[in-house]
Amino acid sequence: MNTNLNGRTAVITGGARGIGLAVARALASSGAKIALLDLLDTVADAADQVSTEFGVATLGQKLDVTDQDATEAAFAAIREHLGVPQVLLTAAGIEINGDSIDVTAADWRKVIDVNLTGTFFSVQSFGRGLLQAGLPGSAILVSSMSAEIVNVPQWAASYNSSKAAVAHLAKSLAVEWAAAGIRVNSIAPGYVLTDLTQQIIDREPALKDDWVARIPQGRMATPEDLAGLVGFLASDASDYLTGQQIVIDGGYTAI
Ligand SMILES: NC(=O)c1ccc[n+]([C@@H]2O[C@H](COP(=O)([O-])OP(=O)(O)OC[C@H]3O[C@@H](n4cnc5c(N)ncnc54)[C@H](O)[C@@H]3O)[C@@H](O)[C@H]2O)c1
Repeated sequence: MNTNLNGRTAVITGGARGIGLAVARALASSGAKIALLDLLDTVADAADQVSTEFGVATLGQKLDVTDQDATEAAFAAIREHLGVPQVLLTAAGIEINGDSIDVTAADWRKVIDVNLTGTFFSVQSFGRGLLQAGLPGSAILVSSMSAEIVNVPQWAASYNSSKAAVAHLAKSLAVEWAAAGIRVNSIAPGYVLTDLTQQIIDREPALKDDWVARIPQGRMATPEDLAGLVGFLASDASDYLTGQQIVIDGGYTAI
């Protein structure tokens, strides 16, 4: 099975920390050049650390993925410095919890804007680069098990809806771009211990035990738990796999 990514360029949005950074490190260990895009100021340092640790070329750039022009410019800079990206992981995402009856227009729009529209702008720029260069590629969109089930006891209708839309975005682009050799899949993680979930747990500590009690494997995932799946989807080992959402949740949705 060939999971080698030697010489390929991978872009990771939301790559300054959490799932994005853990997967970026794994892709670098398979030989990929790495471009990290994130709102956080720490993104350039994170890219430098990946370069030092794995000896691959990297670039770290601040970006708000909801800005279409800025996203296109970031991909142009990556093409110039690291070559045409052939792997994309869209990990930039946010969650705002609350009873649906109280959700404001601003909060609703923010979640849809980052999680769905920002994901679209990223994969659009990625696809544009590949189509112009006539190269194949693999995009992995980060959805969530929340696309397929409703998490309890906390409510997050905007988040769940945005992730369901991301799953169908992956399917839609997979079909549209299949003839060009561009594969598009989504991954649907269960509960992963990152800053995103830690902030929710900090507000309501009892939630963690509640979540873990519902997970057959008896623990939350680490960001590193997702690396093998993403490495497989990024590589030629999954050459005939496109338009699918793959759930990785320790068995949560199997019950
Ligand atoms: N942690 C989980 O349990 C879990 C489960 C399923 C899916 N996910 C998804 O995985 C992805 C990564 O989440 P994480 O848990 O690593 O969270 P995280 O908060 O640690 O990482 C998300 C990153 O996205 C960046 N980001 C947010 N808005 C952005 C924007 N507009 N432009 C650019 N970057 C932006 C943040 O700065 C952050 O670095 C998200 O899409 C999340 O919805 C997480």
